[in-house]
Amino acid sequence: MLNYLGILASGSGSNMEAIANAISNKEINAQIRVVIYNNPDAKVKERAERLGIPAVLINHRDYKSREDLDRAIIQTLNEYQVNLVIMAGWMRVVTQVLIDAFSDRILNIHPSLLPSFRGTHAIDQALNYGVKIAGCTVHIVSLEVDSGKILEQAAVPVLTSDTVESLQQRIQVQEHIIYPKAIANFLAPVSNT
Ligand code: GRF
Repeated sequence: MLNYLGILASGSGSNMEAIANAISNKEINAQIRVVIYNNPDAKVKERAERLGIPAVLINHRDYKSREDLDRAIIQTLNEYQVNLVIMAGWMRVVTQVLIDAFSDRILNIHPSLLPSFRGTHAIDQALNYGVKIAGCTVHIVSLEVDSGKILEQAAVPVLTSDTVESLQQRIQVQEHIIYPKAIANFLAPVSNT
């Protein structure tokens, strides 16, 4: 069965593009059916259109509650027959409504070695703390922010010269490797035995 992905993104969409490239290269047996974005100016819209992927704006400002936003998202995901939801820089907190609709079928990427530095500004948090190893994590989404079973991680050494921007750039290089890998393995687990 071909897997139908729905991507939720708020920003630039570089992870979305890395996933799309991995699909083109046959590293993931899936099709991106739709990209849902919540910020009208998000760069992900142009990226999706360039790749020929439908991009649908669902602006959270138009909804009274997080639950209403999630209901609108579910409706669009269902219209596009999505069976796996990929959060790629989605900057909204999910509710039980979305979790119930796609139980254990929502993945997220976070720019830290979870369970350290959950929430926003993870890279600032890591630098302020003085950690020597930063990184990124792909995990299954649960109600608690940046929690849920970890599927894949990559470590990135912190340099004394690092700024938030320089560290973020090196973490993103790793994100573009581990997110496609985690999705491929989630859809077709490779046995270790
Ligand atoms: C990534 O760094 C991810 O870890 C975080 O948001 C960023 C999204 O980047 N959750 P992009 O929009 O995929 O370029």
